[in-house]
Amino acid sequence: MLHDISSESVAGSGHVLEAMATLPAFREARRWVLRQLEIAQDASSLIEAGCGNGAALPDVMSLMGTTGRFVGVDPTTAFIDVARARAARLGASYAEFKVGDVRAMPCDAGEFDAAFCDNVLIHAGPAKAALGEMARVTRPGGHIGAVEWLPFFLVSSTRPSTAEAFNAIFKAAVHDYFVSGNLKRHFHETGLKRVRTQTFLAHTDSLDAHPWWRAFIVHQMPVFTRIGLIDEATARAFLTDLEALNARHEFSASFIVTAAVGTNPS
Ligand SMILES: C[S@@+](CC[C@H](N)C(=O)[O-])C[C@H]1O[C@@H](n2cnc3c(N)ncnc32)[C@H](O)[C@@H]1O
Repeated sequence: MLHDISSESVAGSGHVLEAMATLPAFREARRWVLRQLEIAQDASSLIEAGCGNGAALPDVMSLMGTTGRFVGVDPTTAFIDVARARAARLGASYAEFKVGDVRAMPCDAGEFDAAFCDNVLIHAGPAKAALGEMARVTRPGGHIGAVEWLPFFLVSSTRPSTAEAFNAIFKAAVHDYFVSGNLKRHFHETGLKRVRTQTFLAHTDSLDAHPWWRAFIVHQMPVFTRIGLIDEATARAFLTDLEALNARHEFSASFIVTAAVGTNPS
């Protein structure tokens, strides 16, 4: 399972995360969450649980202004190194990155005005433990947000059984496959109030319309076969079919991203 793989192996997927950050559905979902957090320019403190390589930083900076406090926490040290380099490159002197677990963050209670996570609850759970910890470090009345997706691709294929095997990879690989459909319940169970959700559709009719599609579907396949999530022959058949459809302009793929925001009781 992907969440059981060592941090250093996960770090090999850095290029997928970089591309993910700009895929419109993920970016719009993250921006929607960030807007709902009601960050005050130059005066807010914000924490991102599972910040990865800091890909959210440009969006965070455009809301936070030039002062304030931003902390990113992630257990993958190689990602934290990239995040620190990114902050230095972008001039985000108020950004700080710590190695840590979303379920036990190295922060005090009520230390932040707001907290969010992006594609983390699907890998690290249970959701209640992660959200509970995000709520703990956020002040009373502060907002907590999450972006998650259902990694089920409605993908064109002349061989539906290979598309099924492709989708089965993610069901087996993640910790909580359906978390995106249950965000409202998880937020309520954490004690958060005024919970609102929004969904975003990712769609393409070309494998090359945005770098993420090929990076996620094609370039990761050797990793999936190596760790036994799909057999080599099926993976090859799926990709050969996909490339042929793409070349004939008969390819399309879609999936759904969900975002939620709730408020800590005052
Ligand atoms: C799909 S990546 C998303 C990273 C980042 N939020 C982004 O959108 O680019 C999932 C992230 O969750 C992190 N992660 C896995 N287990 C975690 C845990 N227990 N606590 C915090 N983060 C965790 C991984 O290291 C990885 O950076």
